[in-house]
Amino acid sequence: MYRTKTCGELRLADAGSEVTLAGWVQRVRKMGGMTFVDLRDRYGITQIVFNEEKDASLCERANKLGREYVIQLTGTVCERESKNSHLPTGEIEIIAQTLVVLNESVTPPFTIEDNTDGGDDIRMKYRYLDLRRQAVRSNIELRHRMTMEVRRYLDSKGFLEIETPMLIGSTPEGARDFVVPSRMNPGQFYALPQSPQTLKQLLMVAGMDRYFQIVKCFRDEDLRADRQPEFTQIDCEMSFVQQEDIIQLFEGMAKHLFRTLRGVELAEDFPRMTWADAMRLYGSDKPDTRFGMTFVELMDTLCGTGEFSVFNEAAYIGGICATGQASYTRKQIDQLTDFVKRPQIGAKGLVYARVQPDGSVKSSVDKFYSPEVLNSLKEKMGAQPGDLILILSGDDAMKVRKQLCELRLEMGNRMGLRDKNKFALLWVVDFPMFEWSEEEGRLMAMHHPFTHPKSEDIPLLDTDPAAVRADAYDMVCNGVEVGGGSIRIHDQQLQAKMFEILGFTPEKAQQQFGFLMNAFKYGAPPHGGLAYGLDRWVSLFAGLDSIRDCIAFPKNNSGRDVMLDAPGTLDQKQLDELCLQIAIPSTEK
Ligand code: AMO
Repeated sequence: MYRTKTCGELRLADAGSEVTLAGWVQRVRKMGGMTFVDLRDRYGITQIVFNEEKDASLCERANKLGREYVIQLTGTVCERESKNSHLPTGEIEIIAQTLVVLNESVTPPFTIEDNTDGGDDIRMKYRYLDLRRQAVRSNIELRHRMTMEVRRYLDSKGFLEIETPMLIGSTPEGARDFVVPSRMNPGQFYALPQSPQTLKQLLMVAGMDRYFQIVKCFRDEDLRADRQPEFTQIDCEMSFVQQEDIIQLFEGMAKHLFRTLRGVELAEDFPRMTWADAMRLYGSDKPDTRFGMTFVELMDTLCGTGEFSVFNEAAYIGGICATGQASYTRKQIDQLTDFVKRPQIGAKGLVYARVQPDGSVKSSVDKFYSPEVLNSLKEKMGAQPGDLILILSGDDAMKVRKQLCELRLEMGNRMGLRDKNKFALLWVVDFPMFEWSEEEGRLMAMHHPFTHPKSEDIPLLDTDPAAVRADAYDMVCNGVEVGGGSIRIHDQQLQAKMFEILGFTPEKAQQQFGFLMNAFKYGAPPHGGLAYGLDRWVSLFAGLDSIRDCIAFPKNNSGRDVMLDAPGTLDQKQLDELCLQIAIPSTEK
């Protein structure tokens, strides 16, 4: 046995006992005749003391220890003279009697402490060292606890955990697939699942009734702070359910996770907002409802009521009211203007209006509008003296709403309204069934092609498909989509119609989704489900800025694993076995 105790468990009550500890040397400090070693393992840090007077040669060996050496020692637990209230073990120290170096270490490339000097790239390259840091490890521990609670909750509700294959066929909707060449079937490829969507539906046809899986999903899409090319879903499906049943069960799971992992009791039902309202009031299908500042449409007030041609020609004018921010300086307004004009946001300009202490309005478009119009602007916005009104306009309402969404979130940040310890959850419901894709020049499924249209909208499939709403729902927390799902089509004919609207010929639909449509011939039960993004849940609970920090071995923003140096090239032998030839266009070389 290498140790009798861990580095995190000894307390004052243990004083006097003999212990054996093993771990990594975090730091060595020499003070007079004493050498102090901070010994670290997964459980904590314990101070070890080597006393030159008591054992000079042992002390001498301790002085030679380097950072990250792996050591084992025995000693006596003693009360510390100067206690460290920041450490759970801070009231004691171990007076060492023996020391064994189990393994040496070269000097690590960054300090393995909470405040490290290592930049992002270096920490990712040596992720196994980064993971030794308590700040990172605690995210991994939280992730473990969350998966345990998920399993406990879903098991208690009768769900079966069932694995589905990783090597499957490519599906044309959704993001790009990651593909795997098949050696045994030359010229043919598997795709890695973007989600187990069709497989879990087949499990419902198979009568499994309630399925879940904590499963890796793969999507070759542009990366962001809350996106990884491989990420983990808590994937679920249920038979003989309606939207309300699914919402109730998974709202219950969210509450269970908040209770058990954050100690937060969410007694109320989560609010529900239609997609149309979310877009109208927040310009986003994942609104951050920790704060108000909702959009006010200003077409009646500012279009055609003055000489400002930008507003007179606009298809949409919208404003937000930043409470108490009228003191914003010219410089701060200029910064906000630059912010909304950034190419990623794309607004042409920003109009502002300050409500003065006497209630009058001073704005950047004063010369175009009468005081009466400006006063009606103030009334419409519900603005009070001291408030700042910010207005954007444009010829495409949806685009302007998205720009205004970014501005609102930026103001929320600046005003400290996005507290990571406050949680605002809601369901966004009644998503449109389809969205127009400029790139493809056709309607695409907004959720996926297996989503059931709202029954009352089914007649519109023939006349006005763009107006059809879906039995689809997302759970949103603090502006992050933490999960989403839908009721599925279980009727072969309706599914075939859906493929037709999405532009599949019957042959193509049969080729791509024949397995599902065939299965539906054998008595598919009504079913529906949802998938939560595990990485997003953990990062929300841990207050992280990026989901990378709760993934043991994440990819960087270019989709690379810098530690494994992947992706990489293949040997010619491997390429030959797979019958592959590489032909990189010269522009990309
Ligand atoms: P959807 O595509 O909405 O639905 O994904 C479900 C949830 O997975 C998370 N998520 C991601 N997390 C990290 N990185 C990514 N690249 C990423 N993409 C998605 C989000 C999202 O809400 N099969 C359907 C679910 C269903 O209908 O049951 C699906 O995959 O939190």
